[in-house]
Amino acid sequence: MPNKDFRKIIEGKKVLVTGGAGFIGSNLCESLLMQGNKVVCFDDFSTGKIENIESLLTHPDFLLVRGSICNFEECKKVVKGMDLILHQAALGSVPRSIHDPLTTNNINIGGFVNMIFAAVEGGVKRFVYAASSSTYGDHPGLTKVENKIGKPLSPYAVSKYANELYSGVFSSLYGIETIGLRYFNVFGKKQDPEGAYAAAIPKFIKSFIEGKSPVIYGDGNQSRDFTYVENVVHANNLAATTQNPKALNNVFNVAYGESTNLNELVILLRDFLLPFDHSISNIKIIYEKERIGDIVHSLASIKKAKRLLRYSPQFDLKKGLEKAIHWYWENLQRGLPENSAGKKISI
Ligand SMILES: NC(=O)c1ccc[n+]([C@@H]2O[C@H](COP(=O)([O-])OP(=O)(O)OC[C@H]3O[C@@H](n4cnc5c(N)ncnc54)[C@H](O)[C@@H]3O)[C@@H](O)[C@H]2O)c1
Repeated sequence: MPNKDFRKIIEGKKVLVTGGAGFIGSNLCESLLMQGNKVVCFDDFSTGKIENIESLLTHPDFLLVRGSICNFEECKKVVKGMDLILHQAALGSVPRSIHDPLTTNNINIGGFVNMIFAAVEGGVKRFVYAASSSTYGDHPGLTKVENKIGKPLSPYAVSKYANELYSGVFSSLYGIETIGLRYFNVFGKKQDPEGAYAAAIPKFIKSFIEGKSPVIYGDGNQSRDFTYVENVVHANNLAATTQNPKALNNVFNVAYGESTNLNELVILLRDFLLPFDHSISNIKIIYEKERIGDIVHSLASIKKAKRLLRYSPQFDLKKGLEKAIHWYWENLQRGLPENSAGKKISI
């Protein structure tokens, strides 16, 4: 149900969300439906999950299309009649792209070009896409400002930067309106905690719930601008509707604008989980060798998004965790064996 602060920004549009069964995409689909839009979710379920959109399947304004952005014919079909595309489909994770650069390249670059060219051919006016803070690469500057980027540190970062380059070229060649949103370490409900490529927050929480030691790679002083998913939804709504010509064909940082290091993060998460299970206080943190390809410090300047998009994020890390912690607790407990250290209890 919409909360008391809920207000409509985008309404009465036909919106295609690629990767709509994924973490961020499913949060976008939910928000678009609540605001009164028709939503088509296009996903191949490679990392997305049906559970993320299960509650939307019976909504009269929601359509799920199973298919791949790597298939241009399917892309052309699915863009028909759309006012707008929020392109989220991609293969995430820096380490995964290092292990398997070919697949990352096919999906994140090949699939991206399929989608944006299908959008051009289908006469779709605006294409808003998920860019990434990984584009800052080895640039030492803090805070990260949109026009100062370094060399990419992974195939994933290359792929996300290639998206920005293609968008610039496509908007000047074909006139499609594009906006890239460089997300910084997003967290929140529907985030996948499973597998080697899971993000830090759900991974640490899962370890605590299972009674295992969370593993930090490196000394834990590396820092991130952890961004609650509702801030990301808010940025997409604004990018979808802005009429500011200076915002079009541009890229923006999407973050809260505060950094937290991993040592601080893991303690904060432990404190958030203690009311659920006090035995978590005994769990020690394990430190392992740092991973290649990771940026050391990441902190966004959000001035540009504030100025041109009127972006105003409402949730810092603590406020976001307050909203998300129950979801993590309930969902990460599923599948735990009966005698696991993480007891199935609720508060
Ligand atoms: N989560 C973050 O912190 C973060 C940070 C920066 C950028 N991003 C970007 O945001 C977007 C969404 O990320 P997420 O965290 O929700 O990841 P996710 O893995 O949960 O979602 C990606 C979705 O894309 C779908 N997909 C993958 N390949 C596809 C294909 N060939 N055809 C159709 N669908 C396909 C997956 O099944 C999944 O549902 C991605 O583009 C990602 O690169 C995420």
